[in-house]
Amino acid sequence: MKAIRGATTVSEDSPLSIRESVRELLLSVIDANRLQISDIVCIMFSSTADIKSYYPAKAAREAGFSSCALYSSLEPEIDGALERCIRIMVLADTDSAPEHIYLNGAKGLRKDITAVYNVAVDGPAGSGKSTVCRLVAEKLGILYLDTGAMYRAIALKCVKDKKDYGDKDVVKHLLNNIDLKVEYRNGRQITLLDGEDVSDLIRTPQVSMLASYVSAYSFVRAKMVSLQREIAKKTSCILDGRDIGTNVLPNCKFKFYLNASPQIRAKRRYEEGKAQGNAQTFNQVLNDILERDFQDKNRAVAPLKKADDAVEIDTSNLTVSEVVAEIISKIQEKI
Ligand code: DC
Repeated sequence: MKAIRGATTVSEDSPLSIRESVRELLLSVIDANRLQISDIVCIMFSSTADIKSYYPAKAAREAGFSSCALYSSLEPEIDGALERCIRIMVLADTDSAPEHIYLNGAKGLRKDITAVYNVAVDGPAGSGKSTVCRLVAEKLGILYLDTGAMYRAIALKCVKDKKDYGDKDVVKHLLNNIDLKVEYRNGRQITLLDGEDVSDLIRTPQVSMLASYVSAYSFVRAKMVSLQREIAKKTSCILDGRDIGTNVLPNCKFKFYLNASPQIRAKRRYEEGKAQGNAQTFNQVLNDILERDFQDKNRAVAPLKKADDAVEIDTSNLTVSEVVAEIISKIQEKI
C-alpha cells in the first residue's frame, strides 16, 4: 500500500470548476502511477476555506471513483495559504514508489517542480552512481550530469593526440585548445570532443585510468568545475562524481555518498565489460579499481571524500531500485 499526495487549484469556486479540477487531478494520479481505479483504497480531500460550492469527494464519485472510500474536509483559514486549493491523499495498492501530482497553481507547493535544485552524488568507481543517477533523474524529471565524462574526454584527447599526459604543460596546452561540450539528446548525456560524439569512446579501461590521472591536475579541475557549476546553476540536475558535495556544490541541500566493497564494485565492472566485449580478467578489473581508488582519494586537489553532510549508502547488497527509492525518499523528506 502506498500513499500518493497531490494538489490542484480551481479557477473559481463553482461546481463545474471543482468537478473538472478534481477529475483532472485524479486521472493524472492514476496515469502517473499506472493504477487502475480498483487499486485505490481511499481518497481523502482537504480544501481551503474559500471552496464552498461543492464537495470534492462528490466530484470524485462523479468522475468514476466510486468503488473506494471518499472523504472531504475543510482546512482552516491561514494567512498566505494558496487560494482555492484542493489537496488529496490517495491510498493505493501498489508496490511502486509513489508519483505525487501537483497541478495548476499548486505546482508552487513543490519546490522540486518549480525551483532549480541540485543533487550531489559522490563515490568510487563501480559504486552504482551512474545507473542510479540516471534513474533518479528520470523519476524527478531533472537532468543527469555525469561529471566523470568530462575528465574522460580530456583523457581521450591525450590518447587521440598522442600527448604525454604526465607532462603538465602539455596537458595545460591541450586543455586551452580543447572543444568540449555536453549536450542532451532524448534525455541522454552526449559528450562532444572537437565536435565528435565520444560518449562510447570514453568508456574504455585505458581512458578510465587516464581520466583519474589527468583529473588530479588543479588546472583541469578548475576548468571542469566551473563548467559543472554553470550547468547546475541554470538547471535542476543530479551530478555524480568524486567532489560534487565537497567542492563543486558545497552548499547543495541533497548530498549522497555511494559506496560498496572493492570486490563487488569490480564484479559489476567486470560483468559490464564482458557484455561489451572487454577482454580484462576479473583480477585486472579489481586492480584497476584499487589503483583508481588510491589515485582519486589521495590527490592533492579535491580528493574523493564523503562530505560531512552527505547521506552514505552502502550499495553492496542493495538492488538498483532500492538505492533509487532511498535517494528519492530522502530528497522528498527534505524538499
Ligand atoms: O565517474 P567516472 O568513473 O566516469 O570518473 C572517471 C575519473 O574522473 C575518476 O576516476 C576520477 C575523475 N573524476 C573526478 O576527479 N571528479 C569528478 N567529479 C568526476 C570524475
